[in-house]
Amino acid sequence: MKKTAIIYSFNSNKTAKIAEQLKSTFNNDAIELVNAEDISVSTFLAYEQLILGVPTWFDGELPNYWDEFVPEIEDMDLKGKLIALYGLGDQKGYPENYQDAIGIMAELLEAQGAEIVGFTSTEGYVFESSRAVRDNLFLGLAIDFENQGSKIKTLVPAWVESLKKVFK
Ligand SMILES: Cc1cc2nc3c(=O)[nH]c(=O)nc-3n(C[C@H](O)[C@H](O)[C@H](O)COP(=O)(O)O)c2cc1C
Repeated sequence: MKKTAIIYSFNSNKTAKIAEQLKSTFNNDAIELVNAEDISVSTFLAYEQLILGVPTWFDGELPNYWDEFVPEIEDMDLKGKLIALYGLGDQKGYPENYQDAIGIMAELLEAQGAEIVGFTSTEGYVFESSRAVRDNLFLGLAIDFENQGSKIKTLVPAWVESLKKVFK
């Protein structure tokens, strides 16, 4: 496998749990776990394939650690990079901003030339609006621990199977 990382906050709670599940489901030693809290441009660019953990915070915003990295993303050339996004959100608590961070991050990365992979179905979710949705699909994997925790055990393996088909 090409150089691949899962980048997420090591200090997060549910986002970190999903990162660990993704790592063990891939069952591939080539996938490295990288802390988003101290990510640098050179570390980010060292990987050809990336999975980013982007929970939504503050009514439709990126968490601080990703927000601080935005100016650096806006200066990067990401052509040729395959990037998959997973998000954490609460569709009952924040129905107007459900998983917005996935959409914010996807738009930032696409503007720099990255290809976003790993879109998923919105079926079975109930919310009002989301920046994470394009053409009826989430631009990544949408995890809702608060309301649909029992779905995680099927969502994670299905997403990993779909990524195995596009990651080289
Ligand atoms: C202050 C606060 C604001 C939140 N805002 C949103 C939001 O706008 N949209 C959403 O889908 N989830 C929102 N959530 C839910 C979180 O994304 C969810 O709890 C997630 O599991 C947090 O993951 P983490 O603990 O790994 O950071 C918010 C949670 C908190 C506490």
